[in-house]
Amino acid sequence: MKTVVITGSARGLGYNMARFFRENNFNVVISDLREESLQKAKSELEQIKSDGKIEYKVCNVSKIYDLQELMKFAISKFLVVDIWINNAGVNQPQKAIWELTQDEIDTIIDVDLKGAIFGSKVAVEQMVKQHKGAIYNIEGYGSNDAHMLGLNMYGTSKRAVTYFTESLAQEVKERDAGIIVGKLSPGIMITEFTTHSLGNDKIELAEKTKKVYNILGDTPETVGKFLVEKMITNTKNNAKIEWLTTAKAFKRFLTAGFNKRNFFDKDQKLLTDDNKEAK
Ligand SMILES: NC(=O)c1ccc[n+]([C@@H]2O[C@H](COP(=O)([O-])OP(=O)(O)OC[C@H]3O[C@@H](n4cnc5c(N)ncnc54)[C@H](O)[C@@H]3O)[C@@H](O)[C@H]2O)c1
Repeated sequence: MKTVVITGSARGLGYNMARFFRENNFNVVISDLREESLQKAKSELEQIKSDGKIEYKVCNVSKIYDLQELMKFAISKFLVVDIWINNAGVNQPQKAIWELTQDEIDTIIDVDLKGAIFGSKVAVEQMVKQHKGAIYNIEGYGSNDAHMLGLNMYGTSKRAVTYFTESLAQEVKERDAGIIVGKLSPGIMITEFTTHSLGNDKIELAEKTKKVYNILGDTPETVGKFLVEKMITNTKNNAKIEWLTTAKAFKRFLTAGFNKRNFFDKDQKLLTDDNKEAK
């Protein structure tokens, strides 16, 4: 039986990837900042029929020690880690760079960039010993060199995550490490991330932005299912598994008049399966 470890998986995309790995009979280790949210996520995931087991461990991805402990925990339970996903992420407040505090800048870089670097380092160290395994990092706004006010630090991190992941793929190839490294590109998902920065503060979305999200956005269930199916069959190093391709985005805009999609109620509460109360 295969094992997957996912950071930042008490909710959103991470939780939904855990769910579909579980449906595919993987052993799943979820991890996040808070014990209570992990307990809740674990008991929900236990409702899904699976031959695999589910475990959780608190882990702050900005601390390499936490990630090392997460790996030790997974190995102590399941002996081998087949897939490791650096998913944890925070959105930035919609401010220009000079309006952000040093703490805000540190948090974005520590979680979105260093979290992926530390997580990859810990995963490679174990997978080299196993001589097998796959590591995935998550792309986001900025990965493709787009620019926008209010996303400078997030975009900087994600652009760097893309470069880092491609470089790591090159390194494991040159060292013949027997493992693969890839990128997951989830497009736009309507999650807490979309409406809150740094995990807490509400982002007031402009009507124009909501319109774009309603056209291009998807639930983390839809995206998670797609990404998991691709990861399970992927054997290629340096793969990019992309949900919202340019062709798909183009088609969405063309058909927007016929497909009235709405992810937000009047108070900007999310109308997704992740937030059933808002429905
Ligand atoms: N939502 C989108 O539109 C979108 C688009 C592209 C990429 N992404 C990326 O997808 C990933 C998941 O995003 P999501 O939309 O599911 O967000 P989310 O906010 O729903 O989930 C993120 C999870 O990460 C956790 N987290 C935050 N800081 C952490 C830390 N220091 N250590 C461990 N866990 C931490 C949170 O507690 C939360 O459970 C992120 O990397 C994000 O950048 C999101």
